[in-house]
Amino acid sequence: MIANSEHRWPWWPLLPLYPYGNRPTLVCELLKGRIWTFEQLHGVWYVAVPIRMTILKVREGLLIYAPVAPTPEVLTQLRRLEAEHGRVCTIVLPTASGLEHKLPVPAMARAFPNATVWITQQQWSFPLNLPSRWLGFPAGRTRVLFDEGLPHPDQLDWIGLGPLDLGLGAFVEVACFDRVTGTLLVTDALLAIPKEPPAIFDFDPTPLLFHARESGNEPLLDYPEQRRKGWMRTVLFASYLRPLGLEVPFWREIFANAFAPGCRTARIHFGLYPFRWKSGWDSEFETLTNGICVAPVLERLVFPRARAPLLAWIRKLAGLQGLERLVPAHYARSQPINGSDLVHLANELEGRTWPGETDAMGTLGQIDHWLLRIGLVPQDEQPGIGNTP
Ligand SMILES: [Fe+2]
Repeated sequence: MIANSEHRWPWWPLLPLYPYGNRPTLVCELLKGRIWTFEQLHGVWYVAVPIRMTILKVREGLLIYAPVAPTPEVLTQLRRLEAEHGRVCTIVLPTASGLEHKLPVPAMARAFPNATVWITQQQWSFPLNLPSRWLGFPAGRTRVLFDEGLPHPDQLDWIGLGPLDLGLGAFVEVACFDRVTGTLLVTDALLAIPKEPPAIFDFDPTPLLFHARESGNEPLLDYPEQRRKGWMRTVLFASYLRPLGLEVPFWREIFANAFAPGCRTARIHFGLYPFRWKSGWDSEFETLTNGICVAPVLERLVFPRARAPLLAWIRKLAGLQGLERLVPAHYARSQPINGSDLVHLANELEGRTWPGETDAMGTLGQIDHWLLRIGLVPQDEQPGIGNTP
């Protein structure tokens, strides 16, 4: 248990980078009286994808898995759930490296002062690797998963991946399986990308409409096909950083198209649009939206030398009895799955070149090679499934 003082600010060294604001939240009751999801948008410069917190009903009350920003709206909705289903008794941070999931934890913990906070092993921070007691996890009620037990073992199974050495710190992810509902919660390692824009964009489709354009002098036009095109491009950006079908025009062309009538607002970045999409730009989208997958960014930058522990973890998940659905912390809210789907995924990953060296992975591969060259990431294949049973 971490013995530190209760910090007033969440993850205080990085607070200026993470204003909670009043970001809209989409709340959904996934299974009546058992599971709820809270979704927000997460990203930079209009490349935004859903980030999700899941609430599970447990015997003692409610469990929060992977908190999102505790805006006033989120806290109001959680108080309503508490009134009906019991107090929030457990908050779980299921990752050691996913900053977007770590940042909300201290503030969420302060909102529920009686909840026990569970974190993964080997929490770390960058550029300064601060001790855990400085990271805002509350005094006297923070426990480390596996090292200090597991929450609600009468109902939940906990399956850990890692620790895997990333050079700067460790990758750890802990999946949670709710035996009552057959629901598997994961954070970043597995996901399913929907073909259609997620409903969270109904609050404000601007990010999709921005990327749906062909040049900076086009206004934002809102109709279903534009939203769909914007979503496809957003997925390609988030998956490959620089998609294969993208060119960056010369600055002269970018400025020539800027400040056009109807485009002179901050919402449309004053018409500055440094992208040119080539024909066939959408060819990779179908591949990405074919069911459960490992995100290309993780495959190429986190798991390139950790295929064995990743496969072992997926196969362990495949053995869960009564598995019905996957609820990841990003993209699709819920994906129907069974053990065979996960076995198939593991076999597919094992049977092909790892990590992927497709043209679409080019930019990610360059980054990985550069990190290797400067010695920031380890060269060697990582062993086993780690120390989390
Ligand atoms: Fe994440």
